[in-house]
Amino acid sequence: METSVALDFLGRLKRTHTCGELRSSDAGKTAVLMGWAHRRRDHGGVIFVDLRDRHGITQAVFHEDVDPAVHRRAEEIRPEYVVAVEGIVAPRGEASVNPNLATGEIEVVASKVWILNESRTPPFPMEDDAGVSEDVRLKYRYVDLRRPHMQRNIVLRSEISFAARQFLHSQGFLEIETPFMTRSTPEGARDYLVPSRVQPGSFYALPQSPQIFKQLLMIGGYEKYFQIVRCFRDEDLRADRQPEFTQIDIEMSFPQRESVFEVVEPLIQRICEVAGCRVETPFVRLTYAEAMRGYGSDKPDCRIPPMHPVGDLLPDLAANNLPLVAIHVPATGAPSRKERDEIKAFGQERGLRVYDDVKRLERDFPAQMAAVRERCGAAEDSLLALAAWSGDPKGHRPEETVYQACGQLRLYCAQKFNNRHTLLDPKNFQFLWVLDFPMFEWDEEEQRWNAAHHPFTSVHDEDLDKLTADPARCRAKSYDLVLNGVELGSGSIRIHRRDVQSKVFAALGMSDEEARRRFFWLLDALEYGAPPHGGIALGLDRLVMILAGESSIRDVIPFPKTARGTDLMCDAPAPVPARQLKELGISIGRK
Ligand code: AMO
Repeated sequence: METSVALDFLGRLKRTHTCGELRSSDAGKTAVLMGWAHRRRDHGGVIFVDLRDRHGITQAVFHEDVDPAVHRRAEEIRPEYVVAVEGIVAPRGEASVNPNLATGEIEVVASKVWILNESRTPPFPMEDDAGVSEDVRLKYRYVDLRRPHMQRNIVLRSEISFAARQFLHSQGFLEIETPFMTRSTPEGARDYLVPSRVQPGSFYALPQSPQIFKQLLMIGGYEKYFQIVRCFRDEDLRADRQPEFTQIDIEMSFPQRESVFEVVEPLIQRICEVAGCRVETPFVRLTYAEAMRGYGSDKPDCRIPPMHPVGDLLPDLAANNLPLVAIHVPATGAPSRKERDEIKAFGQERGLRVYDDVKRLERDFPAQMAAVRERCGAAEDSLLALAAWSGDPKGHRPEETVYQACGQLRLYCAQKFNNRHTLLDPKNFQFLWVLDFPMFEWDEEEQRWNAAHHPFTSVHDEDLDKLTADPARCRAKSYDLVLNGVELGSGSIRIHRRDVQSKVFAALGMSDEEARRRFFWLLDALEYGAPPHGGIALGLDRLVMILAGESSIRDVIPFPKTARGTDLMCDAPAPVPARQLKELGISIGRK
């Protein structure tokens, strides 16, 4: 491509300052700045160029009467050209001080200028509110990454990773790498496969997490491991999911559950500090059963108050021995007729019968409704609704089905009234632990029990004999870290005994042969002195997303994929030449 302007070589030129650095105390110094031309204003005899790098913006000024040749060269500068300027730092006149700019008290009076590279007209302006579609941003991600809010997010991400590393090192954790090319051991999602050329028909899998490897490191005697590690999962994508994402992965030998919390809580506290916010420890702890009862979710959003079962107060309204639930959202004011209808319809679609007419309930059951209000702590200006199940009981834990539907209704109500009163304040960080998850989840499609966390999770000592007799009531030694309705991390105390691992596989309907076929190396390792161990993995992308105040993890990942798993910039995934497939012994069939 021919360039439209003559370009200068960098030669031996060195930058002396960043574009965010100079202050009035630097007046009189000679500075060499390098960056992108953010804006150029041509006032005839004087040209102003705002020079931008990741540290900030500094105004360079070119006076025709000082040096006509340099001024002429500045006329050629266009947005996003890469430019170097040498000049004297000078205080701006009082009238032209820019209080919005850290460097706004000075300007650099240019005596030399170099145009190091030109740029095509950028696809969108560098301002944050440019109103660009995400597809365009992702196609030109390298340009999008220059925008202030992306720069802020990526810098924050780096600072958070660094703080995590520093903290974990200070606690005696070793940073150990585990393989990316490994054996397929699906953990819930599908694997991404990598074909082997030397063993046609055999595949490596990219790890969904380093779970088994970190357990093997404990068996290998390393005691405290961590890794900030990429994981790969072929699953349906959502705003808080990517096919490749990053975990802060942690494992410890000889831990109590508390030992894991004692590492994670100050780690999170430190990370929040880096992001400029304070959080109190210890975090709230709820058992899974309490989270379900109070929030209808295993990832409760505690910025709004919990729900309350009130069937004991109003037995006539409860049905099928299932819970009657009071939902309370504070300070909403009285809902309109239309809002009440919408709330009712939302509940109905999820199988609930919603009692939305509180005035009427209060007329019919004054004493009972006063007790309901008291239990919920619901003032007169709160939204209050009661909900019961409208059909037959469903599932192996039917009360959970009811609570889940009510939990969705609760969030729907909170979101509906959020604009009237910031109920779901994104700067209100409510961390909590959810403990004692059920060991198993019923898979309706496959008609069998699945591991709720993963099959290497310990069962509560007192529930060990329920493994096959009553799997629905078996509790796991697992825990999730939750923040404002988002699952940030998940972990457990693991099974370290071969006999217990066999029992859990059996409860999952996995024969000994199948368990051996899938996990033989872990099973073997458990027979060579495996210590008690446990750990957790925190989703780094989700954590940065929330701390950066973003609602999509794509905004904290430099090169993310779209919801269809595509990289719009390099158009991956893409077909490969037939020769490459042949070498791998692969032929493509029709789906
Ligand atoms: P889990 O599968 O719950 O546990 O993952 C841990 C955390 O990783 C994050 N996460 C994701 N983030 C972005 N995109 C995704 N597709 C995605 N999937 C998961 C979440 C989640 O809480 N090996 C176990 C951990 C352990 O037991 O130590 C594991 O991977 O924030």
